[in-house]
Amino acid sequence: MQNILFYQEAFVSYLKQFKTDKEPQSLYEPIDYILNLGGKRLRPVLTLMAAEIFNTDYKTALNAALSIEVFHNFSLIHDDIMDDAPLRRGHETVHEKWDVNTGILSGDAMLIMAYQLFENYEPEIFRDLARLFSKTALEVCEGQQYDVDFENRDDVTIPEYLKMIEYKTAVLVGAAMQMGAIVARATIEEQQGIYNFGRYLGIAFQLQDDYLDAFGDPKTFGKQVGGDIIENKKTFLYLKTLEFSDKGQQQELQDLFSISPTENDDKVQSVKQLFLSSGAADATTKEIENYTNKAFSVLETLDISEDKKNLLKTFGENLMTRKV
Ligand code: IPE
Ligand code: IPE
Ligand code: MG
Ligand code: MG
Ligand code: MG
Repeated sequence: MQNILFYQEAFVSYLKQFKTDKEPQSLYEPIDYILNLGGKRLRPVLTLMAAEIFNTDYKTALNAALSIEVFHNFSLIHDDIMDDAPLRRGHETVHEKWDVNTGILSGDAMLIMAYQLFENYEPEIFRDLARLFSKTALEVCEGQQYDVDFENRDDVTIPEYLKMIEYKTAVLVGAAMQMGAIVARATIEEQQGIYNFGRYLGIAFQLQDDYLDAFGDPKTFGKQVGGDIIENKKTFLYLKTLEFSDKGQQQELQDLFSISPTENDDKVQSVKQLFLSSGAADATTKEIENYTNKAFSVLETLDISEDKKNLLKTFGENLMTRKV
């Protein structure tokens, strides 16, 4: 196996030769734009690593990795429309740079491209990849719908929140890893093990995303800091603040979250203050560690070398200290 940076560079150079500059330009240019806007490339790196963990050359998994990244970027275009987000990876979002209709159709085309990439595999692998992908993509839609529905609810529970982030985010991280295992013809048990590792890591990842959305540095974060607060998102930070607060503070937070989505710096600052003073910010950091450790304990059930386990642990630890 190689180090994480190696797989990232290998993926990015494969992505570079993925040509999307076709006609009509108004359809394909936004696709090119979002795919080359950067990003951490976590999911495709996990696909490549999973293939090598199960003793198969990462090159065999490049098309599966690309499929996952194209799907992820499609989901970001549509997510940014739904979240009314102005910034992505430090640049204008697709619907801001072009318009909402462009975001919808270019996104749709990317979803189809993601499927199309499975045609590079022989029938049995194709079937298993497509089956996992369809199940995962539907779950992502379900998670995204819960996320939006929760904006207008004030009785969301922590278990509901955890299910929502598992669906909108974590299952794709799990599937990214399982796809590497499928391409490597790993056993069903191995596939499930690596899927669960990715799923737990994905839950930790979304908790951290929520944390950074409030407390990230606007200079480096690449997205609008406070965007979740503006949109009344029921994040772990929000739910824990309610749990830890007295009646007066609960009312204050709920009043702030009854304002319809408008950029309001006072709201963002007041809510962040409540997240901190209630202890919810610390509780979120603890929960991130908790789910990362759950992922690590799944690793112990896998029959792979210590070196491979350590590489995956390094990956998980790096995620916990990320700022982007
Ligand atoms: C953003 O994903 C969407 C979430 C699921 C939180 P990433 O944080 O992986 O985004 P990029 O691809 O690195 O920009
Ligand atoms: C996005 O969650 C999950 C998907 C794109 C499916 P967020 O809405 O929190 O992601 P960001 O913060 O915009 O990247
Ligand atoms: Mg969203
Ligand atoms: Mg969003
Ligand atoms: Mg977010």
